[in-house]
Amino acid sequence: MRVRLRPAELGDVALLEKWDRAPHVIACATDNPDATTAFEDTDWAEEITAASSVSYYLIAEVDARPIGAMQVIDPQAEPTHYWGDVAPNLRALDIWIGEPDMLARGYGTEMMTQAIDDAFADPAVEAIIIDPLASNTDAHRFYARLGFRPVGRRMFGDDDCLVHRLNRITWLNSSVQMAAPPRRPRIV
Ligand SMILES: CC(C)(COP(=O)(O)OP(=O)(O)OC[C@H]1O[C@@H](n2cnc3c(N)ncnc32)[C@H](O)[C@@H]1OP(=O)(O)O)[C@@H](O)C(=O)NCCC(=O)NCCS
Repeated sequence: MRVRLRPAELGDVALLEKWDRAPHVIACATDNPDATTAFEDTDWAEEITAASSVSYYLIAEVDARPIGAMQVIDPQAEPTHYWGDVAPNLRALDIWIGEPDMLARGYGTEMMTQAIDDAFADPAVEAIIIDPLASNTDAHRFYARLGFRPVGRRMFGDDDCLVHRLNRITWLNSSVQMAAPPRRPRIV
């Protein structure tokens, strides 16, 4: 694997703020044409400090260069209740490669593969859900190749999203998952 995922640290705040302002990240994160940041009003230092087992951020590095980030949450247990009334035993992921020159080179697939593998390392986790914008058809193709299937259109605030889901059984039968045991240690 070329990508290393590690927990986000306070030293990553400037980078997360830079990626938050990147036009290609804004375009994937919100339907608001006037948005100047992808994750409106997010205080990255606060987010990182508040990390817990039910909500945390990961930084992806290639040859020690940070290229993007992920958020992993337990959508039922995390404190903001972003997903509303949702079943237990799920994980929700978000992913963004902030460095434009690192897009479409297979790194996103590696990031997702590692994070999915890590989520399903917990035997209680039944499925993983994601909420790409309905308009982000490039991302839909990306998720479909990982085994995610659309399960319904849903508004999150003003954002029109197409929720996708990956069931454990689909992942186990998939050829995309990481090459076999022994199981890596959990990322966080
Ligand atoms: C979506 C994303 C994580 C994919 O990672 P990646 O390393 O670029 O993609 P990979 O090289 O592993 O796979 C290529 C696929 O990613 C998707 N992709 C590539 N560039 C993309 C972009 N700028 N935006 C959205 N999806 C993109 C396409 O489906 C592409 O497949 P294609 O050859 O059929 O066009 C990455 O492109 C990204 O961070 N995009 C901007 C943020 C975003 O859209 N995040 C998803 C929010 S739900």
